[in-house]
Amino acid sequence: MNAVNLQKVIESCLQSALSTEGEIASSNGYQVKVDFDSLQEEGHFDFIPNYPVKYPVDKVLNDKILSILSGALYPALTLFTGGPNFVKTNSANFSKARALRFYFKTGTYSRMLVDSLDTSYIYDGCLPLMEGFKYDFKHNSGHIAISGASGNGKSVFAEYMLSQFWLIGAKIVIIDPKLDHNLWHFAQKKEIEYHYPHVGDNPNTFSGEVTNTLSKAINVIGKRQSSILKGKEVDFNPYIVFIDEAAAFSTKQSRELMEKIVLMGRACKVWLFISAQAMDATNVISSIARDSMGLKIVLSSNPSSEDCRYLFKNFDPSDVVIPRDEYKFGVGLIEQKSDGRIVPFLAPYIANIN
Ligand SMILES: Nc1ncnc2c1ncn2[C@@H]1O[C@H](COP(=O)(O)OP(=O)(O)O)[C@@H](O)[C@H]1O
Ligand SMILES: [Mg+2]
Repeated sequence: MNAVNLQKVIESCLQSALSTEGEIASSNGYQVKVDFDSLQEEGHFDFIPNYPVKYPVDKVLNDKILSILSGALYPALTLFTGGPNFVKTNSANFSKARALRFYFKTGTYSRMLVDSLDTSYIYDGCLPLMEGFKYDFKHNSGHIAISGASGNGKSVFAEYMLSQFWLIGAKIVIIDPKLDHNLWHFAQKKEIEYHYPHVGDNPNTFSGEVTNTLSKAINVIGKRQSSILKGKEVDFNPYIVFIDEAAAFSTKQSRELMEKIVLMGRACKVWLFISAQAMDATNVISSIARDSMGLKIVLSSNPSSEDCRYLFKNFDPSDVVIPRDEYKFGVGLIEQKSDGRIVPFLAPYIANIN
């Protein structure tokens, strides 16, 4: 769709839907202007109210426009939620001097098909996670949080990411209180350090092991920090601690250590990957640590505000159209901190998990 056609579509959708709400009786009340980037991959449109207007130009209007258009423009465009984003129009006419801007991507995101976990996809500091979406771990904190109910694909998705970082030489440590069979096979095959509760052991034994493992990561941070101070190596290999189903063992001490890794690990590439059914502060991780995550993912085939409550505070997922395919797992929402956009997510389909 070119800019002119898109502008017409947007105007006609808004005209019928907004006017029925009694707010904007005629299309003279506003104008729409569309701009694509040079590659036509992304773009934005401006909603330019023609002041004086009878309606408040605010978050409510912003969200109403998003909710009218996100379904209407699918699958030609994927609208990014958020806002209101006020921009200057540079019009000399006061009536049209400002606009609400909405950003979009052309087309939709789609699922990557990954044949084997031995193929490397990382390039230029980015890990592709969908067709049309790359995780830029160079410009983010490196820490990752994945939430979602059992069976939604948290462990398999984590395995994809771990295998990718393993292929570029990352040191990986896995803490797995529930002993996931896919993760266990993966760790065996790659000779990755793996901690799980052994049958018959005193539960304190595993807690102690977790504390030791997290403390070791903090020691690595300390060593790397001192070599940064000495002006030595700064291009470290990632050191990743992955905790699967973190609510299954969490103690006050482990939560404090996890928070320390998240708050201190970024500059020296010591990263925490964490998965849990819900990322609450009581059982899993503090809100400060949560806010420092470079990548946040909610896996749910139909995400509700409740599902998003911890990772995407105050976010209403109902305006995000998630493209469907033949797989039920690995579906949800994703946000990387550097662009702050919460977008639909389809985890890579892994044909051969083991
Ligand atoms: N991305 C994926 N590609 C292929 N199969 C998947 C994928 N995600 C999940 N599955 C299938 O669904 C099952 C459950 O996924 P899993 O990651 O164990 O869920 P969770 O960790 O959230 O409980 C897996 O054993 C696998 O068979
Ligand atoms: Mg799991």
